[in-house]
Amino acid sequence: MGQVVNSVETKKLYIETVGCQMNVLDSEMVVASLRRHGYDLTDSIDRADTILFNTCSVREHAEEKVYNHLAQLKRMKLAFPQKTIGVMGCMAQKDQKQVFERAPYVDLVVGPGQLHRIPELLQRIEAGQGQQMAVSLGRRDGSQEDIRRSHETFDPLRDPTMRPTPFQAYLRIQIGCDKFCTYCIVPMTRGPEQGRSPELIVAEARELANQGCKEITFLGQTVNSYKYVNEDKTTRLADLLEMVHEIDGIERLKFVTSYPKDMTAELLRTVRDLPKCSTYLHVPAQSGSDEILKRMKRGYTVADYYAMMDRIHDILPGAAVSSDFIVGFCGETDHDFQQTVELVRRCRFKNSFIFKYSVRPGTRGAELYQDDVPEEIKALRNNQLLAIQNEISQEDNLAFLGQSVQVLVEGPSKASIKRGEPGPLRQLVGRTQCDRIVVWDGNERQIGQMLNIVVHDANAHTLFGTVETMELAPEVFPLPSV
Ligand code: 5AD
Ligand code: SF4
Repeated sequence: MGQVVNSVETKKLYIETVGCQMNVLDSEMVVASLRRHGYDLTDSIDRADTILFNTCSVREHAEEKVYNHLAQLKRMKLAFPQKTIGVMGCMAQKDQKQVFERAPYVDLVVGPGQLHRIPELLQRIEAGQGQQMAVSLGRRDGSQEDIRRSHETFDPLRDPTMRPTPFQAYLRIQIGCDKFCTYCIVPMTRGPEQGRSPELIVAEARELANQGCKEITFLGQTVNSYKYVNEDKTTRLADLLEMVHEIDGIERLKFVTSYPKDMTAELLRTVRDLPKCSTYLHVPAQSGSDEILKRMKRGYTVADYYAMMDRIHDILPGAAVSSDFIVGFCGETDHDFQQTVELVRRCRFKNSFIFKYSVRPGTRGAELYQDDVPEEIKALRNNQLLAIQNEISQEDNLAFLGQSVQVLVEGPSKASIKRGEPGPLRQLVGRTQCDRIVVWDGNERQIGQMLNIVVHDANAHTLFGTVETMELAPEVFPLPSV
């Protein structure tokens, strides 16, 4: 059956996003700019004129999934050649022309530093100019300045409809990364570390507040290393938090992801002194073994990490800290892994994201070391560490029983959506300032509000509660006399 595509008025865009918060934000930006070029979103690939995949390269598995998905679209593209298929994001930057080689029916390849060119490139494709590619320079392919310039941050417009909720938004303060951890592809795909100017950041935060946004999360690969130098003035993350804290309407400020070495006492004191700042810190440890940390080139020892945790708890008692771990990195022995277990037990993270090491061609790790931990051992260590972390998360969550927590109400819970609850009375989900997920039976009118919930049950991932009710004044509702 034929389909009408490429109608002159509005074109339909389907976009699929995998990977980190940076990608979620990039997709929001691309959609906002394409809307200005006459596109409207659709959630159906069949109805789309343009199909974009925003991709991730951090692990091989994420890439394979995209290539498999592309393979499934081959027949559709043969039947409807006027449909445009694009690959954007880190995999586009990493694989470049190889994307066309593996999937010759792809029309567009755009790296994360070139996203501003998407509307123009789509126009060229429409005009019959064939496949288009825009990628940034590699880390050794030019002068520092040229490389930096080729990785442009793309933050022109904000589109509340593309955000998970209109009252929560990510705000990029930094692009790229210069840490070069040996396992990680990000410094290659997202280029050199560059802080955005404080003026732009504050202006964007104001715009978000005007759009009704209450919670802003600053994004950066190593967000607490943020630095912007203008003549003799240096701005750091603590300064940015102070500036954005002033904006009316903004009620909560978070920042991810932090780098352990740059978690200074000064920054922690700023978080303590600014009431809108969440006392939630995501500071990946990656491993609890000095030998592995050295091989990962993380730039700190286990003792440094413990000292940082002490600093956090001294200055911010009750802060929630979460972490990332890679298990099965090259040469990881059982003894190394046991040290990671020890670190997880001692640090009692709110939660941890645990990944099996995946070799990334183009990294120092892939060049220098043998990926010698068998897949079964990686899987075993992953499961063991996850089980220990879950036990800790559950114990810590149970400590909330009977307590009242303040949440920003995000919307219907996943379970409510799955059950197809018709609303307005349905199960809702929100987050505490410490990033804990809370679920209760509520009313859709509560979405977007700050609400107090009394916790009466908990598992490792979720607190369950009921809305705290005000004590009713007796003169308003007199008790019946007996
Ligand atoms: N293999 C597995 N996990 C990785 N990460 C980064 N690179 C790799 C890799 N090659 C993990 C790290 C990082 C998180 C975003 O992804 O734990 O903090
Ligand atoms: Fe990758 Fe390390 Fe940079 Fe994080 S700090 S993005 S793990 S290189």
